[in-house]
Amino acid sequence: MYRTHTCGELRAAHAGQTVTVSGWVNRRRDHGGVAFFDLRDRSGVVQITINPNLPQETLDLVANVRFEWVLQIEGAVQKRPEGNANPNMATGDVEIIAQKVTALNPAKTLPFMISSDADLPDENTRLKYRYLDLRRERLTHNMILRHKVVKFMRDYLDAQGFIEIETPIMFKATPEGARDYLVPSRLFPGQFYALPQSPQQLKQLLMVAGMDKYFQIARCFRDEDLRGDRQPEFTQLDLEMSFVHRDDVLQLVENLYTEMIPAVAPNKRLLSAPWKKIPYREALEKYGTDKPDLRFGMELQDVSDVFAKSEFKVFQSALENGGVIKCIVAPNSAGMSRKEIDALTEVAKSFGAKGMPTLTLTAEGPKGSAAKFISAEEIESLKSKIQFGEGDLILFASDAKAVANKVLGGLRLWFRDKLNLADENLMAFAWIVDFPFFAFNEETQMWESEHHPFTMPKMADLPKFETNPGEVFSEAYDMVCNGYEMASGSIRIHRRDIQMKMFQMLGLSDEEIKAKFGHMLEAFEYGAPPHGGMAPGIDRLIMLLADEPNIREVIAFPKNQNGRDVMADAPSEVEAKQLKELHIKFS
Ligand code: AMO
Repeated sequence: MYRTHTCGELRAAHAGQTVTVSGWVNRRRDHGGVAFFDLRDRSGVVQITINPNLPQETLDLVANVRFEWVLQIEGAVQKRPEGNANPNMATGDVEIIAQKVTALNPAKTLPFMISSDADLPDENTRLKYRYLDLRRERLTHNMILRHKVVKFMRDYLDAQGFIEIETPIMFKATPEGARDYLVPSRLFPGQFYALPQSPQQLKQLLMVAGMDKYFQIARCFRDEDLRGDRQPEFTQLDLEMSFVHRDDVLQLVENLYTEMIPAVAPNKRLLSAPWKKIPYREALEKYGTDKPDLRFGMELQDVSDVFAKSEFKVFQSALENGGVIKCIVAPNSAGMSRKEIDALTEVAKSFGAKGMPTLTLTAEGPKGSAAKFISAEEIESLKSKIQFGEGDLILFASDAKAVANKVLGGLRLWFRDKLNLADENLMAFAWIVDFPFFAFNEETQMWESEHHPFTMPKMADLPKFETNPGEVFSEAYDMVCNGYEMASGSIRIHRRDIQMKMFQMLGLSDEEIKAKFGHMLEAFEYGAPPHGGMAPGIDRLIMLLADEPNIREVIAFPKNQNGRDVMADAPSEVEAKQLKELHIKFS
């Protein structure tokens, strides 16, 4: 028997018991002939005390023990002497007085320390030795949290009548807006499977199959530019339901999250119950983005009417060109230095601004780069429209509406971080609803689906399909939290005629439609029920719950920022023989 207890479970109540524990040497201290080890396993750390009265053989072994050796210790649990308890350790009231020490496996000197997060090496070194990195308490905690979240989801959905069904990984391209990963076929020369960007088509086909309520902890694969919240393979809680309307799906997921968050992360609070439902256009107007961070105010304000007769050229020309003048008020930021304002102007430019006019009120009168172009009446009118006072800094964006929104939305988040405006323990969930159905791609001059092509348009907007596609709204929704898109979903098209129309609007020829989606369209002819669903991203949720800056920290074996697995060194070349079998030749 390797152990009777885990390291982290020992408490004062175990005092007097003889126990066996196994684990890794987390730290070692030698003090007046006595050696102290912190022995660690997944459950935590316990102090082992090695007294000099042990047999010489044991003492010789102990003398050699280094960090991360794997030891088995048999000994007596003892309450630590008065004043020696360690309140920072869950097992800090006790120690194990070793009677027998067995070295199960030695360890080489490690590339980095496990027991402390100080002096962490660069990320590639951590990922190369991910199996060591994962031994660190923070990452171990992230893996356990992830397990708890997934288990909660499974149990909850099971209780609601959902069944978990696996869908194929080797499938056909399912468009979610990224490039596909392709798998060449040996048996069918020149043909490829595609890894699913999501199980979207398959879950809809499961509805046609009568499965009613489906879910899956589903792996998705997308060849797209990576970011902190994007990995080439990631995990969704994919779900789909038959005979539902939008609010049935939203309510189910809202209830799941509302019960789950306190159960798995008691330090987190939810912003509101019920969650806000914010129309897409309102989100853009108020926050400059369709994934707003609702933990703080600083909403964007449209002040075009205040400056309708402005003498300020910049404002004038924006309005003349059909644009807007919008602003945000940064609290207590009037004292920002010239240098800081210049740096911030560069930030604004990176979001598309041509400049960044500012205004502050001081005892000596208005200051800031816009001050000399703004009249006393305009300031009075501004005061009646928006809340600001001495000490605040007003930042303007005058441009096409989309640009002004993007710039101020970006600056709003910049101030969030600079002024610490967002409570990190608040989970500000909300639904974004009423998305436009189509997005116009200026580059290709084509309409594209704003969500994915299986999303149902609002039925009342169907007649506008050909006449005014930009005014068609969809039955799509997003879940957002703290500035991230956490989930997307929609009520689906379940009628062949509407689905055909959608594909045609996207510019697909009849042959292309048949080749790519013939199986879906045919399925819709055999009695497809009305259905809808959603897919919350699991990695992003764990990232927020664990207060991590990116999703790599919550995935056991992630790819690095360049999409490489630096531990196994993948992707890698393969043998000529394998290529030949797959009928692949490089020119
Ligand atoms: P969508 O493409 O919006 O919708 O994805 C849903 C959610 O998945 C997460 N996500 C990602 N997480 C990590 N890395 C990525 N590269 C990545 N891409 C997406 C996000 C996102 O909100 N089939 C539809 C859902 C549906 O309609 O039911 C879909 O996949 O949290």
